Amino acid sequence: MIITQDDITLFVEAIKSVSDYDFSEYSIKSFTRRIEKILVDYKTDLPLLTNRIRHDDKFLEQIVKDITVNTTELFRDPKVWQTIKYRILTRLNDQDKISIWHAGCSTGQEVYSMQILLNELGLLEKSDIFATDINVDVLDVARKGEYIYRFNVEYLENFDKVIKQNPFNESEFFEVPYEKYFDIDKSKDTIKVKPFLKQKPTFFKHDLVKDGDIFHIPFDMILCRNVLIYFNYELQNKIFELFYQYLKEEGSLILGIHESILGPKATKYTKKGLYYTKK
Ligand SMILES: C[S@@+](CC[C@H](N)C(=O)[O-])C[C@H]1O[C@@H](n2cnc3c(N)ncnc32)[C@H](O)[C@@H]1O
Repeated sequence: MIITQDDITLFVEAIKSVSDYDFSEYSIKSFTRRIEKILVDYKTDLPLLTNRIRHDDKFLEQIVKDITVNTTELFRDPKVWQTIKYRILTRLNDQDKISIWHAGCSTGQEVYSMQILLNELGLLEKSDIFATDINVDVLDVARKGEYIYRFNVEYLENFDKVIKQNPFNESEFFEVPYEKYFDIDKSKDTIKVKPFLKQKPTFFKHDLVKDGDIFHIPFDMILCRNVLIYFNYELQNKIFELFYQYLKEEGSLILGIHESILGPKATKYTKKGLYYTKK
């Protein structure tokens, strides 16, 4: 069945009419792809789906979770983490406190990567870390910090690149065993982050589209990686404004490696290679 833009508009309006969720400014292309997948998974069509979400709150919540794409990994895009390590965190060394917000944190691998890095640099104790997502199921996984080993093992290579090696000095090597941060049980196929890493981050539900100022501190660093690709240009610009308000002067914004600030808000930020700072 071919889905038209009108069908999608009706569906999005239906969600809006019965809940606080607003997908009207999501990128139509990726949103449509997501809906197509949902229709196949639930063996239904869009009119039936639209009708059901109007009358079944629980089902609606499930569909909202299904709409979100939650792919993530430990130390995703190691070059970005090397930049955070050698370019951003070194500047924050002397501060009494470091505040970080992971917006769209998914199942938490990004958050624990940051915890590990901060710990290696001796900065964990003085850091305040908030991690948010629209999808409460991924937040539950993130809080637990327990993952399937075979899905994460290849990312330990990223760990090596960021934690053990120095890309700016190849002769430098830090012997950091995985066991310092993870309990790995290959027979049970689990990799669990050590309990001490779970003490710092505060995970909670936050919808970038509609949840206002809920933080009462400005941030040194905001990571919003691989989230804005699902939003249209107008919504992206609103979020860049939101982050501008939330950042300290010179605070850093880290987007996905293929994402950039285009449009009117670009003048409010300085691009510094793989990240932006607030002007
Ligand atoms: C692809 S994951 C990115 C995870 C991680 N930042 C990374 O780069 O590996 C995108 C996340 O954005 C979340 N998301 C989508 N729309 C959102 C919204 N309106 N507010 C907050 N989070 C949202 C999804 O639930 C999903 O967990």
